[in-house]
Amino acid sequence: MDAVIDELKPHLQPDDILIDGGNSFYRDTNRRGTALAAAHLQFLGVGVSGGEHGARIGPSIMPGGPKEAYERVRTVLESVAAQVNGEPCVTYLGPGSAGHYVKMVHNGIEYGLMQLIGEAYDLLKRGYGFDNDRLHDIFAEWNTGELNSYLIEITAAIFAQKDDRTNGRLVDLIEDEARQKGTGKWTSQDAMDLQVPVPTIDAAVSMRDLSGLKSQRTAVANLYTGPTAGADPGGTDAAGKIVGPLGRALYGAMILTYVQGLSLLGRASQEYGYGLALDEVARIWRGGCIIRAALLDDLRRACRSHPNLPTLLMDNDLAKTLQARSADLRAVVQVAAARGIPSPGLMSALAYCDGYRSARLPANLTQAQRDFFGSHTYQRVDAPGVFHTEWPQA
Ligand code: 6PG
Repeated sequence: MDAVIDELKPHLQPDDILIDGGNSFYRDTNRRGTALAAAHLQFLGVGVSGGEHGARIGPSIMPGGPKEAYERVRTVLESVAAQVNGEPCVTYLGPGSAGHYVKMVHNGIEYGLMQLIGEAYDLLKRGYGFDNDRLHDIFAEWNTGELNSYLIEITAAIFAQKDDRTNGRLVDLIEDEARQKGTGKWTSQDAMDLQVPVPTIDAAVSMRDLSGLKSQRTAVANLYTGPTAGADPGGTDAAGKIVGPLGRALYGAMILTYVQGLSLLGRASQEYGYGLALDEVARIWRGGCIIRAALLDDLRRACRSHPNLPTLLMDNDLAKTLQARSADLRAVVQVAAARGIPSPGLMSALAYCDGYRSARLPANLTQAQRDFFGSHTYQRVDAPGVFHTEWPQA
């Protein structure tokens, strides 16, 4: 991007607008915007989602930078963006790197959702022995209900795709090593810097990394035994019974992944001065982009009704929705663990919710340990102030 800017600069005149529509790291966008402003050029950092197809039929567009520059290109962006109910999936998000930051978190959520879908696939395929036709039917059926979303839709299509070199299905012939360009990792890294928990996104990044350790996995697979893959002691009837709970568990875990991403955006908006309207972010993610999903309507409404809630988990309607799926999420996680199917995405989503609904966590013990070994002090529940104890040395 820097090289392209250097190439373009001699051809630009004061007040020209340069648009970076790639997945640039937000701090680079800040640096470039500052340098170009000094040269009297206007720089817009614009996240664009939708892949090759979206580029042709209408992507979701996430612009940030000088407001006056946005206003000058607004009609162009609005006319190329995806439309949902007559509204274009684009809006001015905020100054500086606001647009690229929102796109980064979009991708972090994308990683989380893909991991969750992968776990559902693994449980159905390895855990219960479902074939690709059945998987296609389940995902296609899910896509007609509350799980309706782009990623569920393309997953159904993937199971149906025949291989043109063999008689098999293509999905079975693709190497199980996921690559990444880094936007999910940036999301996790920045969330850690801002101390915002995004455990499902973290789990997704870690599992992409673990997938890449193929030769190690192959060696370790010979050393450890576990529940037999594909075994279904309950027979077909039991297998059929997992589909409903799994769909509801997936829905709950997906909502929890968006909640994590939106929490990060809320915190980043304060820290970096973006002034993000989260209901508008949810709105422009409803069409064109990879994480478009029917459930974004509910998230948009929750963000709009309570723009100042510290977490969307405090929204009453969302709480009811999640509460109604929590028993299924818990049951599915238990089944996955019992069958030896790695499910850190589903587990982390459940633990995120369980952590939030724990008015008291074991962090008291962490504080005692920190004070024990490092005199880091602690606070008491029954008195104000900072305390230290002379612990008996072990
Ligand atoms: C989108 C996609 C797009 C791209 C990702 C892939 O919103 O259209 O997110 O930006 O496909 O960068 O990311 P990974 O290579 O990290 O999986």
